[in-house]
Amino acid sequence: MPTAEGTATIRPSTRAAGRVTVPGDKSISHRYAMLAALAEGISTIRGYSTGFDCRTTLACLRALGVDLAWKPGEVTIEGRRVASFAQTTGPLDAENSGTTMRLLSGILAAAPLVTTVTGDASLRRRPMRRIVVPLTQMGARIDTDGGRPPLTIRGARLHGIVHRPEVPSAQIKSCVLLAGLLGAGTTTVEEPVPTRDHTERALQTFNASVTRGDGRISIEGGQPLVARDVTVPGDISGAAFWGALAAGTPGGDILIEGVGLNPTRTGVLEILRRAGADVAVSVDDAESAEPSGRIRIQARTWDDFSVAPDEVPGLIDEIPALAALAAIMPAGRIFEVRGAGELRVKESDRISALAAGFRAMGSEIEEFDDGFRLQARPLHGAVVETLGDHRLAMAFAVAATRASDPVIVHGFGAAAVSYPGFYETLVHLTCSASSSLPR
Ligand code: S3P
Repeated sequence: MPTAEGTATIRPSTRAAGRVTVPGDKSISHRYAMLAALAEGISTIRGYSTGFDCRTTLACLRALGVDLAWKPGEVTIEGRRVASFAQTTGPLDAENSGTTMRLLSGILAAAPLVTTVTGDASLRRRPMRRIVVPLTQMGARIDTDGGRPPLTIRGARLHGIVHRPEVPSAQIKSCVLLAGLLGAGTTTVEEPVPTRDHTERALQTFNASVTRGDGRISIEGGQPLVARDVTVPGDISGAAFWGALAAGTPGGDILIEGVGLNPTRTGVLEILRRAGADVAVSVDDAESAEPSGRIRIQARTWDDFSVAPDEVPGLIDEIPALAALAAIMPAGRIFEVRGAGELRVKESDRISALAAGFRAMGSEIEEFDDGFRLQARPLHGAVVETLGDHRLAMAFAVAATRASDPVIVHGFGAAAVSYPGFYETLVHLTCSASSSLPR
């Protein structure tokens, strides 16, 4: 379990340049694996995320009797009907992965099984009522520990509902759509603010029909899925850290290739521009279910910047990277984000954990219930804690390259949740060869 392990010492650097690829997109990998597990035939998924979270999804599917073969970057999965999923002998462990727990619950709600799904200490603190309420309305019975994991799910014959999630969340939407696919009748999710649409695209790729328009997404239950050969593009959420590093370092110039460019995920690029960077995007593949291409980020100038509440769902996972950018800007620059209360229930309470880490390095941070305001100050050496949160590990490491003295990042190993190899790529781009290898 890598999340709590590993300390890295990051030393100062003045360079941020080079060309990189990033691991396969975490969100898309989870979805392709789950849909392949339900599809008729054998699917091959290329570019599958090497991150620990996506391995966890595969381990859960295997425990449910799904035949699959994994090698780095490629997974083969033989689908089976949900009715023939195997009764597990013990609880399924979703480890650190909220996406595994929430999306798989939508499938388990329709399986003729009683399944307990649990996770690590971080996941067991995260809110699950948001999926329990709609799945219960659809006919499943689910016990929780006061609205948190473990979840014990008694699957049932589900029926369609119209659901308006209490917070904009692709995980809630996806959970309900998967349950709707496996139930009877029509299921509709109403989204006042759009969230990432990978599930809708993936369902269509695996042969299901999904109706979308005016903030409503509907699916008819009982549609058979068909196995496919699919490719996962690079994860723009991982790429965002290189965007922050390039944008914040004088002379910074980083090219990221083969990265996903789904418009529901590219919000961060607009914010990098707003903060003063040059961002050039070229689409190399517009035909696949998920578009992909190249992003080049060059430092130009450094402006105060902010993220408005209605922009948050489109870049919620990139806020730690944007905070790192703000922290390495010239002293006095300001970054403010509001309407991001969801950050408090991610892999850690990201508002307080980001504030603690950047404050320790020298930034000035004011915390709000639903966001923060960071004012850049010269960064110095410090000891910071990731609290086992992969995005904090990467954000602190990026900022640390611009500190005056080494920064010790405790719990740096958590980066492997979404980005194995992050450290090596950081060294490659910054030439901070004196950074100590993570222990
Ligand atoms: C994800 C959706 C987001 C995001 C998470 C992955 C997904 O969560 O923060 O890392 O794959 O659907 P919410 O949908 O709960 O905001």
